[in-house]
Amino acid sequence: MLRRTNYGEVTGFKASRTILGRPIYFTHFFFLNGLLIDTGPHCSSKEVITALKKLPVEKVVITHQHEDHTGNCSLISEELGVPIYAHPATIRVMADPPDNIEIYRKVMWGMAPRAGANPVSRIVTAGCYSLEVIHTGGHSIDHVCYFEPHNRWLFCGDIYLGENLTGFMVGENIAEHLTGLQRLIALEPKILFCGLKGRLTNGTKKLISKYNYWWDICFRVKKLFEAGKSRREIITAVFGSEMFFYYFSQSSWGRRYLIDSIIENLDYFETGQKKIPQETQFS
Ligand SMILES: [Fe+2]
Repeated sequence: MLRRTNYGEVTGFKASRTILGRPIYFTHFFFLNGLLIDTGPHCSSKEVITALKKLPVEKVVITHQHEDHTGNCSLISEELGVPIYAHPATIRVMADPPDNIEIYRKVMWGMAPRAGANPVSRIVTAGCYSLEVIHTGGHSIDHVCYFEPHNRWLFCGDIYLGENLTGFMVGENIAEHLTGLQRLIALEPKILFCGLKGRLTNGTKKLISKYNYWWDICFRVKKLFEAGKSRREIITAVFGSEMFFYYFSQSSWGRRYLIDSIIENLDYFETGQKKIPQETQFS
């Protein structure tokens, strides 16, 4: 399934595999003035390439290595012949995608075929626009966002996803997440173009809410851990239980990985910036 929505100069695409006619997970990617930001999952490849052939795509940039964002890079290279730019760590994964990803990833997105890309520079142009490339890490080691300062648009890949998320994929890093969010909040974005939720208003307010929600959880976990509680006891005390998706994802996405990352980064919470007052929000 692929749906297209026009937001003025930005075109949004919303892709999903469907099962019995029902979409199971949405991935959004965007087009601005010749620039395609992410490519959608490979399971939607036929619809994606048909849609993109109707647009004047000049180049592609990628937010991060996950296959729902890089899934159509190979096809776009072959069919459109346009250059693709990405973080060096993204390029390495694209050149040699893992074949041992969990079943849920194969079902929801499909595997990304091998593809080539060039290192992205600090500024990416899209016609009259210049977008700043902001490395955040956190969600994945290579994660970057693209910020257009004139309209304060933030193409934020999977760094936002929602305000009250409690599940982490294996390998996500809470300290990098919080540092990355601080960096993005300082830009005072007005509009988020999110990989999961599409176009969102009140961008800075949403990022601050997410930051503060996680900061509260981090301190609750820190206190419980320092009081001698086990990780299982901490999950019960903070969340009640593990999330259902933990079992569906072959134990690769769950609350335990957020707890693990907080415990691995306890020293960060001694020196990291504290909660951000909501009154500092720009919009
Ligand atoms: Fe992702």
